[in-house]
Amino acid sequence: MKKIKVGLVGSSGRMGKEIIQVIENNSRCEVFYPFGRNDKWDAKKAKSVDVWIDFSSPDALKDVLKRAAETKTPVVCGTTGFSKKEKDLLEQYAKKIPVLWSSNMSLGVAVLNEALKSLAAISHFDFQIEEIHHNRKKDKPSGTAITLQENLEKAVDKKLPAPLAIRGGGVFGVHKIYSMSDEEVLTFEHSALNRTVFAKGAVQAAEWLVKQKPGLYQIRDVLFGKQK
Ligand SMILES: NC(=O)c1ccc[n+]([C@@H]2O[C@H](COP(=O)([O-])OP(=O)(O)OC[C@H]3O[C@@H](n4cnc5c(N)ncnc54)[C@H](OP(=O)(O)O)[C@@H]3O)[C@@H](O)[C@H]2O)c1
Repeated sequence: MKKIKVGLVGSSGRMGKEIIQVIENNSRCEVFYPFGRNDKWDAKKAKSVDVWIDFSSPDALKDVLKRAAETKTPVVCGTTGFSKKEKDLLEQYAKKIPVLWSSNMSLGVAVLNEALKSLAAISHFDFQIEEIHHNRKKDKPSGTAITLQENLEKAVDKKLPAPLAIRGGGVFGVHKIYSMSDEEVLTFEHSALNRTVFAKGAVQAAEWLVKQKPGLYQIRDVLFGKQK
Protein backbone atom coordinates (compact mmCIF):
# COMPACT_ATOMS: atom_id res chain seq x y z
CA MET A 1 0.00 0.00 0.00
CA LYS A 2 1.26 3.50 -0.90
CA LYS A 3 1.95 5.52 2.23
CA ILE A 4 0.41 8.97 2.74
CA LYS A 5 3.26 11.49 2.46
CA VAL A 6 2.99 13.97 5.32
CA GLY A 7 4.60 17.43 5.30
CA LEU A 8 5.14 18.60 8.87
CA VAL A 9 5.46 22.31 9.73
CA GLY A 10 7.01 22.87 13.16
CA SER A 11 8.71 19.48 13.03
CA SER A 12 11.27 20.25 15.75
CA GLY A 13 8.74 21.63 18.24
CA ARG A 14 7.12 19.69 21.10
CA MET A 15 4.11 18.69 19.01
CA GLY A 16 6.20 18.15 15.87
CA LYS A 17 8.39 15.58 17.65
CA GLU A 18 5.32 13.85 19.05
CA ILE A 19 3.75 13.61 15.57
CA ILE A 20 6.95 12.11 14.17
CA GLN A 21 6.77 9.39 16.85
CA VAL A 22 3.09 8.68 16.18
CA ILE A 23 3.74 8.37 12.43
CA GLU A 24 6.70 6.03 13.06
CA ASN A 25 4.14 3.62 14.55
CA ASN A 26 1.62 4.10 11.75
CA SER A 27 2.06 1.89 8.68
CA ARG A 28 -0.21 4.09 6.47
CA CYS A 29 1.76 7.36 6.74
CA GLU A 30 5.32 8.65 6.54
CA VAL A 31 6.88 11.99 7.46
CA PHE A 32 8.06 12.92 3.99
CA TYR A 33 8.85 16.63 4.42
CA PRO A 34 9.65 17.92 7.93
CA PHE A 35 9.81 21.73 7.80
CA GLY A 36 11.20 24.07 10.48
CA ARG A 37 11.46 27.83 10.81
CA ASN A 38 15.01 28.01 9.39
CA ASP A 39 14.55 25.55 6.50
CA LYS A 40 14.70 26.71 2.89
CA TRP A 41 11.46 26.00 1.03
CA ASP A 42 11.77 23.16 -1.50
CA ALA A 43 8.89 23.61 -3.96
CA LYS A 44 9.77 20.44 -5.89
CA LYS A 45 9.63 18.27 -2.78
CA ALA A 46 6.43 20.01 -1.63
CA LYS A 47 4.68 18.87 -4.82
CA SER A 48 4.84 15.25 -3.62
CA VAL A 49 3.31 15.96 -0.19
CA ASP A 50 -0.20 14.43 0.19
CA VAL A 51 -1.18 16.38 3.32
CA TRP A 52 0.39 19.08 5.50
CA ILE A 53 0.22 18.99 9.29
CA ASP A 54 1.05 22.34 10.90
CA PHE A 55 1.74 22.79 14.62
CA SER A 56 3.93 25.91 14.62
CA SER A 57 2.94 29.52 15.25
CA PRO A 58 0.30 31.95 13.90
CA ASP A 59 2.92 33.75 11.78
CA ALA A 60 3.52 30.57 9.74
CA LEU A 61 -0.09 30.15 8.64
CA LYS A 62 -0.20 32.41 5.59
CA ASP A 63 2.79 30.74 3.89
CA VAL A 64 1.56 27.25 4.82
CA LEU A 65 -1.86 27.85 3.23
CA LYS A 66 -0.48 29.69 0.19
CA ARG A 67 2.04 26.97 -0.58
CA ALA A 68 -0.47 24.17 0.03
CA ALA A 69 -3.01 25.84 -2.27
CA GLU A 70 -0.42 26.00 -5.07
CA THR A 71 -0.27 22.19 -5.08
CA LYS A 72 -3.93 21.62 -4.00
CA THR A 73 -2.69 19.85 -0.87
CA PRO A 74 -4.96 19.53 2.22
CA VAL A 75 -3.83 21.13 5.51
CA VAL A 76 -4.43 19.96 9.08
CA CYS A 77 -3.61 22.84 11.41
CA GLY A 78 -3.41 22.58 15.19
CA THR A 79 -1.75 25.93 15.88
CA THR A 80 -3.55 28.13 18.42
CA GLY A 81 -3.44 31.81 19.32
CA PHE A 82 -5.11 32.85 16.05
CA SER A 83 -6.68 36.29 15.69
CA LYS A 84 -9.53 37.12 13.31
CA LYS A 85 -6.91 37.67 10.57
CA GLU A 86 -5.75 34.02 10.70
CA LYS A 87 -9.30 32.69 11.04
CA ASP A 88 -10.24 34.63 7.89
CA LEU A 89 -7.26 33.08 6.10
CA LEU A 90 -8.48 29.59 7.04
CA GLU A 91 -11.92 30.40 5.60
CA GLN A 92 -10.47 31.93 2.46
CA TYR A 93 -8.16 29.01 1.63
CA ALA A 94 -10.78 26.40 2.55
CA LYS A 95 -12.58 27.45 -0.64
CA LYS A 96 -9.63 26.05 -2.60
CA ILE A 97 -8.35 23.10 -0.52
CA PRO A 98 -9.54 20.94 2.41
CA VAL A 99 -8.46 22.67 5.65
CA LEU A 100 -9.02 21.17 9.09
CA TRP A 101 -8.30 23.42 12.05
CA SER A 102 -8.99 22.49 15.65
CA SER A 103 -7.62 24.12 18.76
CA ASN A 104 -7.66 20.67 20.36
CA MET A 105 -7.13 17.53 18.30
CA SER A 106 -8.17 15.08 21.03
CA LEU A 107 -11.21 12.94 20.33
CA GLY A 108 -12.40 13.42 23.94
CA VAL A 109 -12.59 17.20 23.53
CA ALA A 110 -14.43 16.72 20.21
CA VAL A 111 -17.07 14.73 22.12
CA LEU A 112 -17.06 17.29 24.96
CA ASN A 113 -17.88 20.06 22.46
CA GLU A 114 -20.83 18.00 21.25
CA ALA A 115 -21.95 17.34 24.84
CA LEU A 116 -22.16 21.10 25.45
CA LYS A 117 -25.23 21.19 23.19
CA SER A 118 -27.16 19.31 25.93
CA LEU A 119 -26.65 22.27 28.30
CA ALA A 120 -29.28 24.16 26.31
CA ALA A 121 -31.80 22.38 28.56
CA ILE A 122 -30.38 24.18 31.63
CA SER A 123 -29.47 27.47 29.98
CA HIS A 124 -30.76 29.40 33.04
CA PHE A 125 -27.82 28.00 35.14
CA ASP A 126 -24.59 29.96 35.70
CA PHE A 127 -21.60 28.70 33.67
CA GLN A 128 -17.85 29.02 34.03
CA ILE A 129 -15.00 27.45 32.05
CA GLU A 130 -11.61 26.87 33.71
CA GLU A 131 -8.42 25.63 32.10
CA ILE A 132 -4.95 24.61 33.36
CA HIS A 133 -1.83 24.30 31.18
CA HIS A 134 1.95 23.99 31.53
CA ASN A 135 3.95 27.13 32.25
CA ARG A 136 5.52 27.26 28.73
CA LYS A 137 2.18 27.72 26.96
CA LYS A 138 2.18 31.00 25.02
CA ASP A 139 -1.55 31.72 24.59
CA LYS A 140 -3.96 32.41 27.48
CA PRO A 141 -6.76 31.39 27.68
CA SER A 142 -6.12 28.27 25.62
CA GLY A 143 -7.53 27.88 22.11
CA THR A 144 -9.53 24.95 23.45
CA ALA A 145 -11.14 27.10 26.16
CA ILE A 146 -12.03 29.72 23.54
CA THR A 147 -13.66 27.08 21.30
CA LEU A 148 -15.53 25.57 24.28
CA GLN A 149 -16.71 29.06 25.27
CA GLU A 150 -17.98 29.78 21.73
CA ASN A 151 -19.87 26.47 21.60
CA LEU A 152 -21.24 26.88 25.13
CA GLU A 153 -22.48 30.42 24.46
CA LYS A 154 -24.15 29.14 21.29
CA ALA A 155 -25.79 26.28 23.21
CA VAL A 156 -27.15 28.38 26.10
CA ASP A 157 -27.73 31.45 23.93
CA LYS A 158 -26.15 34.01 26.26
CA LYS A 159 -22.84 35.79 26.88
CA LEU A 160 -20.77 34.18 29.64
CA PRO A 161 -17.84 35.26 31.85
CA ALA A 162 -14.44 34.74 30.19
CA PRO A 163 -12.63 31.43 30.86
CA LEU A 164 -10.32 31.30 33.89
CA ALA A 165 -6.77 30.33 32.88
CA ILE A 166 -4.18 28.80 35.24
CA ARG A 167 -0.54 28.24 34.19
CA GLY A 168 1.82 25.95 36.05
CA GLY A 169 4.07 22.91 36.02
CA GLY A 170 3.88 20.41 33.20
CA VAL A 171 0.09 20.06 32.87
CA PHE A 172 -0.73 18.95 29.29
CA GLY A 173 -4.24 20.41 29.44
CA VAL A 174 -7.24 20.31 31.77
CA HIS A 175 -10.59 21.88 30.82
CA LYS A 176 -13.60 22.09 33.12
CA ILE A 177 -17.07 23.41 32.44
CA TYR A 178 -19.11 24.20 35.54
CA SER A 179 -22.91 24.49 35.27
CA MET A 180 -24.27 25.87 38.54
CA SER A 181 -27.70 26.46 40.05
CA ASP A 182 -28.72 27.04 43.69
CA GLU A 183 -29.27 23.32 44.12
CA GLU A 184 -26.59 21.55 42.05
CA VAL A 185 -23.26 21.77 40.25
CA LEU A 186 -22.65 19.77 37.09
CA THR A 187 -18.99 19.55 35.96
CA PHE A 188 -17.75 18.34 32.59
CA GLU A 189 -14.01 17.71 32.73
CA HIS A 190 -11.39 16.66 30.21
CA SER A 191 -7.74 15.94 31.03
CA ALA A 192 -5.06 15.27 28.44
CA LEU A 193 -2.69 12.70 29.97
CA ASN A 194 0.07 13.30 27.44
CA ARG A 195 0.84 15.15 24.20
CA THR A 196 0.38 11.97 22.16
CA VAL A 197 -3.40 12.41 22.32
CA PHE A 198 -3.16 15.57 20.17
CA ALA A 199 -0.64 14.01 17.79
CA LYS A 200 -2.78 10.89 17.26
CA GLY A 201 -5.85 13.05 16.61
CA ALA A 202 -3.94 15.17 14.08
CA VAL A 203 -2.66 12.12 12.18
CA GLN A 204 -6.15 10.55 12.17
CA ALA A 205 -7.48 13.87 10.87
CA ALA A 206 -4.82 13.93 8.12
CA GLU A 207 -5.72 10.41 6.95
CA TRP A 208 -9.37 11.49 6.81
CA LEU A 209 -8.75 14.89 5.19
CA VAL A 210 -6.95 13.52 2.12
CA LYS A 211 -10.31 12.03 1.07
CA GLN A 212 -12.35 15.24 1.52
CA LYS A 213 -13.39 18.03 -0.84
CA PRO A 214 -12.26 21.64 -0.25
CA GLY A 215 -13.91 23.08 2.86
CA LEU A 216 -13.22 24.11 6.43
CA TYR A 217 -13.38 21.16 8.80
CA GLN A 218 -12.88 20.50 12.52
CA ILE A 219 -11.77 17.39 14.38
CA ARG A 220 -15.42 16.74 15.34
CA ASP A 221 -16.21 16.22 11.64
CA VAL A 222 -13.86 13.21 11.59
CA LEU A 223 -16.10 11.59 14.22
CA PHE A 224 -19.55 12.95 13.45
CA GLY A 225 -19.42 14.08 9.79
CA LYS A 226 -19.34 17.66 8.52
CA GLN A 227 -21.46 20.08 10.55
CA LYS A 228 -24.16 21.79 8.49
N1 LIG B 1 -4.58 21.64 18.45
C1 LIG B 1 -4.03 20.92 19.42
O1 LIG B 1 -4.51 19.82 19.78
C2 LIG B 1 -2.76 21.42 20.08
C3 LIG B 1 -2.11 20.66 21.05
C4 LIG B 1 -0.91 21.13 21.56
C5 LIG B 1 -0.38 22.34 21.10
N2 LIG B 1 -1.07 23.04 20.16
C6 LIG B 1 -0.54 24.28 19.58
O2 LIG B 1 0.41 23.93 18.58
C7 LIG B 1 1.39 24.97 18.47
C8 LIG B 1 2.79 24.37 18.66
O3 LIG B 1 2.89 23.89 19.98
P1 LIG B 1 4.25 23.29 20.55
O4 LIG B 1 4.01 23.03 21.99
O5 LIG B 1 4.76 22.20 19.68
O6 LIG B 1 5.19 24.59 20.39
P2 LIG B 1 6.75 24.64 20.19
O7 LIG B 1 7.43 23.57 20.96
O8 LIG B 1 7.14 26.07 20.42
O9 LIG B 1 6.95 24.26 18.63
C9 LIG B 1 6.61 25.08 17.56
C10 LIG B 1 7.59 24.79 16.44
O10 LIG B 1 7.19 25.48 15.26
C11 LIG B 1 8.30 26.18 14.74
N3 LIG B 1 7.87 27.36 14.01
C12 LIG B 1 7.42 28.54 14.52
N4 LIG B 1 7.15 29.40 13.53
C13 LIG B 1 7.43 28.75 12.37
C14 LIG B 1 7.37 29.13 11.01
N5 LIG B 1 6.97 30.36 10.66
N6 LIG B 1 7.73 28.22 10.07
C15 LIG B 1 8.15 26.99 10.42
N7 LIG B 1 8.25 26.57 11.72
C16 LIG B 1 7.90 27.46 12.67
C17 LIG B 1 9.13 26.52 15.96
O11 LIG B 1 10.45 26.83 15.60
P3 LIG B 1 11.31 27.84 16.57
O12 LIG B 1 11.53 27.06 17.83
O13 LIG B 1 12.54 28.09 15.75
O14 LIG B 1 10.46 29.05 16.78
C18 LIG B 1 9.01 25.23 16.77
O15 LIG B 1 9.92 24.25 16.31
C19 LIG B 1 0.99 26.01 19.52
O16 LIG B 1 0.20 27.00 18.89
C20 LIG B 1 0.17 25.22 20.53
O17 LIG B 1 -0.73 26.00 21.28
C21 LIG B 1 -2.24 22.61 19.65
